[in-house]
Amino acid sequence: MQIISHINPLRQSVEALRQSGQIALVPTMGALHEGHLTLVREARKHAAHVVVSIFVNPTQFGPNEDLDAYPRQLAQDSELLEAEDVALLWAPEVSEIYPQGFATNVSVSGVSESYCGAARPGHFDGVATVVCKLFNQVQPDVALFGEKDWQQLAVIRRMARDLDLTRPYAANIIGVPIVREEDDLALSSRNRYLSAQERKAAAALPHSMRHAVDLIEQGENVTAVLADLENALIKSGFAQVDYASLADAESLNLLQNTPKQAARLLVAARIGKTRLIDNMAVQAQ
Ligand code: PAJ
Repeated sequence: MQIISHINPLRQSVEALRQSGQIALVPTMGALHEGHLTLVREARKHAAHVVVSIFVNPTQFGPNEDLDAYPRQLAQDSELLEAEDVALLWAPEVSEIYPQGFATNVSVSGVSESYCGAARPGHFDGVATVVCKLFNQVQPDVALFGEKDWQQLAVIRRMARDLDLTRPYAANIIGVPIVREEDDLALSSRNRYLSAQERKAAAALPHSMRHAVDLIEQGENVTAVLADLENALIKSGFAQVDYASLADAESLNLLQNTPKQAARLLVAARIGKTRLIDNMAVQAQ
């Protein structure tokens, strides 16, 4: 596996790889876990060469968020990727991605405005800008993202369609189902912030969400189910629920009634100082 941290050698290496097959890109911020590695394994089914990026992107963190505390463990991550037969690890410094005088912003309206966009102002601008850059740098044939970040996936698909990105085409942006722990909590680099007690209580998130999905699919009143879900989370030890919403699975438009189309239950909640997100499919009735 090549480990590259500068743009010119990156361009040369991806061009060389492209001579012998297609390229799949898996963008990450490192602190890799089975969720990330599942994306890498899925990527290998779609292309001859897998490129993984590790970049803790400062522009997607708010001023009071965990940028400094975010786990950085490049040596351990590169061992994990080496074992997955990754061709190239792209691990640039901040100055390589945001050179002196950097002044451009990719901002996707609509789909990025509610939910995490409302709770974390500027977050999706940071994500869209860095992912647009990563796409231009690596020019992958396909790119893979986790459904764990459902809204992020929707924002990136919208950006790729709107900007006519050719590598990857919007249709070649692949979503991968959420990988979960044994107690159903979605894997996340942020789970390591949880104390033992918080970690135990955190399982209430997927548990209460599954219950809410069942009730919505049985035709129960959506507003009442979502209010009960928020209360259940607070009772289980969550300090705050940023949002618990039912949305159209693609446009992310808010749904207030039993869905007639594919929908998604989206939740963000804080336990102690840690913010957890999760989402689940809700079948059309
Ligand atoms: P990061 O949080 O490191 O996640 C990298 C990719 O792994 C994302 O596509 C995310 O959805 C996916 N992922 C994380 N946990 C997962 C799980 N439990 N199951 C399935 N997929 C999972 O998301 C980012 O980084 C950044 O915003 C990034 C896209 C790299 C831009 O900076």
